[in-house]
Amino acid sequence: MNFDLVIRNGTVVTASDIWESCDIGIKDGIIVAVGPRLPATAGAQVIDAEGAFITPGGVDCHVHLSQVYEAAVDEIDRSVVTNGVIPDLENYVSDTYDTGTRSAVAGGTTTVVTFASQMKKDESIIPVIEDYHKLAKDQSYCDYAFHVIITNPTPQIVEEEFPRMVDEYGITSVKLYMTYKPMRLRDYQILDVMYSARKLGITTMVHAENTDIIDWMTQHLEEKLMTQPYHHGTSRPPIVEAEATNRVICLAELMDTPILLVHISGGPATKHIRDAQTRLLPIYGETCPQYMFLLADSMRKRDFEGAKCVCSPPIREDKSDQDAIWAGIKNGTFTIVSSDHAPSKYEHPHGKKRGLQHGNLPHGKFRFIPNGLPGVETRVPLLFSGGVLSGRISPQKFVEVTSTNPAKLYGLKKKGCIGPGFDADLVIWYPQATFQPFNLTNEMLHHAIDYTPFEGIEFKNWPRYTIIRGKVVFSHGEVVGEMGYGQFIRREKSLLPGPRDVWLSEWRP
Ligand code: URP
Ligand code: ZN
Ligand code: ZN
Ligand code: ZN
Repeated sequence: MNFDLVIRNGTVVTASDIWESCDIGIKDGIIVAVGPRLPATAGAQVIDAEGAFITPGGVDCHVHLSQVYEAAVDEIDRSVVTNGVIPDLENYVSDTYDTGTRSAVAGGTTTVVTFASQMKKDESIIPVIEDYHKLAKDQSYCDYAFHVIITNPTPQIVEEEFPRMVDEYGITSVKLYMTYKPMRLRDYQILDVMYSARKLGITTMVHAENTDIIDWMTQHLEEKLMTQPYHHGTSRPPIVEAEATNRVICLAELMDTPILLVHISGGPATKHIRDAQTRLLPIYGETCPQYMFLLADSMRKRDFEGAKCVCSPPIREDKSDQDAIWAGIKNGTFTIVSSDHAPSKYEHPHGKKRGLQHGNLPHGKFRFIPNGLPGVETRVPLLFSGGVLSGRISPQKFVEVTSTNPAKLYGLKKKGCIGPGFDADLVIWYPQATFQPFNLTNEMLHHAIDYTPFEGIEFKNWPRYTIIRGKVVFSHGEVVGEMGYGQFIRREKSLLPGPRDVWLSEWRP
């Protein structure tokens, strides 16, 4: 067998096993051999892993790029926005496909699934998908696929366009919001989406927060002038997430359809997911590093700069919530860990500082702070360093939640595993004995954002090489891949369990 690239002497990790002193042979971008002492082949490039861990490339299935959420647009001149996108780059608050995927590969992520976002006024999702294709094409450093955010599920969209989305466009998941005024769906509309999603094998992702509690609490906190960034969290205690999580699990049970609860932040919601799984419902959970590594005092400190850590659901106050998230990763409640990379620059007219400019109060108003954090570059290294190397999770669990499960959940058939036939998407880490731990600063990162919420955190390792389809795209701190190398990936239906044909009444779809 001829190889194009041989990686020698690694500690190869999959979601189930670890093989020491192991080589990987790659041909035409595909892994063709995994085993000890693969034969030398003339002309093959050789990388010596020096005994270090080799893990499958990160698969991050919750990344917002070139997207302006309607929620964040209330205060922006809406005429500049088309299909959720500000075409004028000068106006970008956030990461584009270029900067976001550059950041991804620098942190060991080789595939991202980003969002094509319908705005309520869009009567069809087809032009929305086409628009995001234009934004991503020739702009991406890593492979990418899309979910579609549905904010207005008309009969035309759910009945006629969903089948086209799956068959023509290779998109097999949608995201729904239960909160954010311009995006949220009523329960009735959620059922409309689930009804069609079930028939087509679409995975429905849900942002579960009780929007009326949030609105009511925000109003009443403002009356008491409790409007500092920190009180973003006060307005959304864990029951806000738990109530909506439980409600949408009930809707999914009624409709006998699988859902993924995204960015779960607290213990009470985690328990609802766990209970549903114990009842054998196909309910999946996602959490994010911000809920594993940060607590709410990151919003309290530095006065208004606490805005840098404002996201929804909020980073939690109590260590008990953080502990519940870690327990949920270990016991399998959480199928995947994604970044929810959804940053806004801090020093930008429409960025995080907006709450100060629009608040008419010396300490600003959290209501006007765009929600979301940067994290596509730090997700994999944080879980490796703060998870595996800190003894909290096994190397296999790390691979499972950052790569293998995301690929299986979202039908990325050739991603997420080191084995023959899979794309050669790999991360080679530094040999542990020689790695000098360091404390992260934003200057080290490759995104276009002017801060990281993980500033100062110690990293005990970092990807030494990131490899996509057999090509080194990141090496020793430098992005060496090219913009445009990343390919759009058509997805299959989820490989994880789906409908059970168990019903709550005589009704059948
Ligand atoms: O605060 C967050 N998470 N913003 C990004 C949009 C979303 O809800 O995922
Ligand atoms: Zn403004
Ligand atoms: Zn969300
Ligand atoms: Zn998100």
